[in-house]
Amino acid sequence: MITLKSEREINQMMETGKLLAACHKEISKIIKPGITTIEIDRFVEEFLVQNGATPEQKGYKGYQFATCASINDEICHGFPRKTPLKNGDIVTIDMVVNLNGGLADSAWTYAVGNVTQKVNHLLEVTKKSLYKGIEQAQVGNRLGDIGHAIQSYVESEGFSVVRDFTGHGIGPTIHEDPQIPHFGSPGKGSRLKEGMVITIEPMVNEGIWYSQMDSNGWTARTVDGKLSAQYEHTLAITKNGPVILTLQ
Ligand code: MF3
Ligand code: CO
Repeated sequence: MITLKSEREINQMMETGKLLAACHKEISKIIKPGITTIEIDRFVEEFLVQNGATPEQKGYKGYQFATCASINDEICHGFPRKTPLKNGDIVTIDMVVNLNGGLADSAWTYAVGNVTQKVNHLLEVTKKSLYKGIEQAQVGNRLGDIGHAIQSYVESEGFSVVRDFTGHGIGPTIHEDPQIPHFGSPGKGSRLKEGMVITIEPMVNEGIWYSQMDSNGWTARTVDGKLSAQYEHTLAITKNGPVILTLQ
């Protein structure tokens, strides 16, 4: 069932989104070679609690951490761990925040130290594909318009879009209807309505789009061992167009 949010609910989710964006800003300052993703996870949890919020992912379906931290060929839902990040790595930090009952969800891929131009291109294309999807999140458009905008751009740059994980409606719980595929055909799928709050979170692979699940039952990684990047925003669909709630 798709729920439509009131202006009051959207305003609360926007407050949460601002805090989440501020948290990503802090992460961008501390990410460097040598830091571990478990340290980043602790930092995030403390930052949220100090600001009156809670990490919604912790305890969700048994998930143990405040963040997902997906390194290099990991597509999503990587576990924070004690291995130090190395120069040239990429790492996606994903989190869902709860502030006064309003949720927001945003992932960002960070370059650790210096990455090659090729890797930087993957990050730029992935980020741009998110905004191309957001542009299509207009009242009256269909889900396929979002997916098509993302997929056609990503493929024109020689990369591929992961199909096994989608964006989603959000609030009052993390994953609500509808699912938002990052691929598709224009004019197909459900129509977007005023008051929907959704995430768009394309995962873009350097090589083929297939994913495989780790034995931990959570972490997905590329089958060819090549890199995967992801940028995610939570947004509200309004009559004046999409409003990004997690804008940094
Ligand atoms: N942004 C992530 C997603 O939509 C949040 C996952 S929460 C987790 O997949 F607990 F499942 F990790
Ligand atoms: Co999400």
